[in-house]
Amino acid sequence: MLRTHTCGELRLENVEQEVTLAGWVQRVRNKGGLIWVDLRDRYGLTQLIFEEDSSEKELLEKAAELGREFVVQATGTVIERTSKNDKIPTGSIEIKVSKLEVLNAAKVPPFIIEDETDGGDELRMKYRYLDLRRNVVREKLQLRHKMMQETRKYMDAQNFIEVETPVLIKSTPEGARDFVVPSRVNPGEFYALPQSPQTFKQLLMVSGFDRYFQIVKCFRDEDLRADRQPEFTQIDCEMAFVEQEDILSTFEGLTKHLFANVKGVELEEVKRMTYADAMKYYGNDKPDLRFDMKFVELNELAKGKGFGIFDDAELVVGICAKGAAEYTRKQLDALTEWVKRPQIGAKGMVYAKYNEDGTIKSTVDKFYSAEDLQAWAEAFGAEKGDLMLILSGEANKVRKQLSELRLKMGEDLGLRDRNVFKPLWVVDFPLLEWDEETNRFHAMHHPFTSPKKEDIPLLDTDPGAVRANAYDLVINGVEIGGGSIRIHDRTTQQLMFKHLGFSDEEAQKQFGFLMEAFEYGAPPHGGIAFGFDRLCAIFGGSDSIRDYIAFPKNNSGRDVMIDSPSSIAEDQLKELSILVNLKN
Ligand code: AMO
Repeated sequence: MLRTHTCGELRLENVEQEVTLAGWVQRVRNKGGLIWVDLRDRYGLTQLIFEEDSSEKELLEKAAELGREFVVQATGTVIERTSKNDKIPTGSIEIKVSKLEVLNAAKVPPFIIEDETDGGDELRMKYRYLDLRRNVVREKLQLRHKMMQETRKYMDAQNFIEVETPVLIKSTPEGARDFVVPSRVNPGEFYALPQSPQTFKQLLMVSGFDRYFQIVKCFRDEDLRADRQPEFTQIDCEMAFVEQEDILSTFEGLTKHLFANVKGVELEEVKRMTYADAMKYYGNDKPDLRFDMKFVELNELAKGKGFGIFDDAELVVGICAKGAAEYTRKQLDALTEWVKRPQIGAKGMVYAKYNEDGTIKSTVDKFYSAEDLQAWAEAFGAEKGDLMLILSGEANKVRKQLSELRLKMGEDLGLRDRNVFKPLWVVDFPLLEWDEETNRFHAMHHPFTSPKKEDIPLLDTDPGAVRANAYDLVINGVEIGGGSIRIHDRTTQQLMFKHLGFSDEEAQKQFGFLMEAFEYGAPPHGGIAFGFDRLCAIFGGSDSIRDYIAFPKNNSGRDVMIDSPSSIAEDQLKELSILVNLKN
């Protein structure tokens, strides 16, 4: 070992000990005959001191030549500091150095490697290996590590077996585009990278593995956002001989285990809500339950009073912002402009203030009497000091708009506290979703999801109304995981493909292997996958999953550090039969 201790370890008890530390030079302060060096490693920071009176001249000269991020080894005696630094755990001591070895010199780093840095996003991504030296960045990956260990601990204790499934496969439909890999030995043919190990985990159930999990990379070629990366990690799970309730309780267990053991938070019972209620009351299939502001529908109270906009609307719906009646005219105008932005798309907003003097003042007083407005307030459960915000229009659109407004109000009123965690199971998702672009139904979760038995007859008459045995885990408005009870017989699976517009031939070609497996004794089964990066981000209190990935891609899907994706040589293209294909 090149060191006896780490840079985060030494305390007053160690005074007078002879120690050797190794690490990176974070800062050098040179006062002529006196030089201090902050030495950093993964564990912390220790101050080294070089003094003219006691050190050899040569040593002092060597110390004076140290630059930021030099890798050094220093041997010396632990002494008590005269002026202590109570901000760091080693702040009571310093090392009076007697021997200094430069293990490697370093170029001046392109940005300051401290908690507060001067490096912009792009620069830090280009030099991600330097960014990772910063405590604040490293700590996020340590959190990820801990989450991974605790996940394995829980899953193992519950009898789950971790099995690795292949990465070079063929398309598994999860709703995104595939990344493909050309096969050299099979000219003109391609593998697809898994969007998830969905079909493999189902096959493992047919194999009798009974409880499978895997912490696994998935690949999806889709537009990137703060909570989406082209390659991301799932905690992927499947269980046989279970019903939905068993899955929900097992993974509520995992969620509670992680919160308790990683964050020291005892979670309350995970609430449940149907998809239909989530849409009706929050306009969103992943409601943020850290705050209330449930939607209140006003059709009955607001229509028929001569206000044309409401009269013509399919839905008049609003939220009540507690204590926000003091919003100024200027603030309310700004809010109105905010909902009218193209990203939100509302035509306008009506508001009603429940003033402290008991009067209610609205933007549509012309059409509504004091009694009418009082009736609104009752519907909202509004009290003095509250603000009612109302939108109207086509039902689905207006719910979406109000959902955005609700989240904004939650944010503005400080109700989305990062230290509060409100998990929720959203259940009874629709099986199918109408796709305007392709003019046909798509599986809302994936085509292996089973319909609710009682809804199967609706498949022929009203496919959009069929509910699935599918569920999502939502925490603080983020979709953390999703899963379903699967179809496990060939006939139903075939029927499903038919409803999704697959011909028998196409279904056989793409998923014949799975349907055949179902004929060799497939147990009833179901599962779930957690988005591991998202889970880490929620635990760490961040909106971006990038911070929790060691080497993430930027918003254009590029790794700017290794400069990828990149073009490849013509020879390689030929060898992979791609050039031939293009020319054909
Ligand atoms: P689903 O497609 O819902 O289900 O994915 C499961 C979870 O993975 C996370 N996730 C992502 N995280 C980061 N970047 C992405 N691009 C990304 N896409 C998805 C989300 C999501 O809830 N095979 C099924 C699971 C099952 O049925 O068991 C599946 O993959 O948090």
